[in-house]
Amino acid sequence: MSTTHAAPDRENLRDLAVSVAAEAGELAARGQAGITVLDTKSSPTDVVTEMDRATEDLVRSRLLAARPDDAILGEEGGDEGGTSGVRWVVDPIDGTVNYLYGQPDWAVSIAAEIDGVVVAAAVNVPGRGEAYEAVLGGGARLNGRVLEAPPAVPLEQALVATGFGYFPERRVHQARVLSEVIAHIRDIRRGGSAAVDLTGLAVGRANAYYERGLHAWDWSAPGLVASEAGLRVGGPGGGPPSEDLVIAARPELHDALEALLRPLGADTDG
Ligand code: IPD
Repeated sequence: MSTTHAAPDRENLRDLAVSVAAEAGELAARGQAGITVLDTKSSPTDVVTEMDRATEDLVRSRLLAARPDDAILGEEGGDEGGTSGVRWVVDPIDGTVNYLYGQPDWAVSIAAEIDGVVVAAAVNVPGRGEAYEAVLGGGARLNGRVLEAPPAVPLEQALVATGFGYFPERRVHQARVLSEVIAHIRDIRRGGSAAVDLTGLAVGRANAYYERGLHAWDWSAPGLVASEAGLRVGGPGGGPPSEDLVIAARPELHDALEALLRPLGADTDG
């Protein structure tokens, strides 16, 4: 027997995401000094700290206390089913290596999906004092100020952010792709947090971003912030963002960057 639910209000989901991300950001920021590696995941360079786990536990408990029937997908704790049609997608600390080294560019990301579509988002970047929020169709904000990404620039004038996966073979191929890309753009940036890279496009810290091997928790919340600020956030061949490739930029630049990346095999492992 199927159960129907009234669609939850997107703004309410956003408000919950914003307040939980702020609390989680404070918790993680307090724990950053003196943090050490607790464990490794997909490869010896893919680290997890005790604060990744403690922060995700806090986020899960706050979300489920407010909305007990929702599902949650979290980077550290995996998938937990629900019955409401809402699923939260959580990265407790995106940029764990930056976090470990005392750098400021890491973020708590919380997105809400309704029936698989991301409708609300919060990205909290404590090291920069930045709280981003977005609602599908309702715009994006940074610390309460409406965001509109700067206009596109030609590919040769674009500052392009990117990142590397944790598997050595993948990284070597990504570096090969980058060694070709760099001849066609202004310069590259490797910031160390996909969430900070994607939200940073909305405030003009770079013109474009691409990366292979991200997961839904890396792109869901910051991707909505970026797209609500006027950027196109997509995957290969005009599809949605995927683990194969995420590209984000103003549409004209997105097309030009994708036309450069695909023949180089940026959406493959070489
Ligand atoms: C990582 C960061 C990094 C990106 C990696 C991600 P994590 O997330 O976003 O910038 O290059 O692909 O896995 O592991 O710190 O949550």
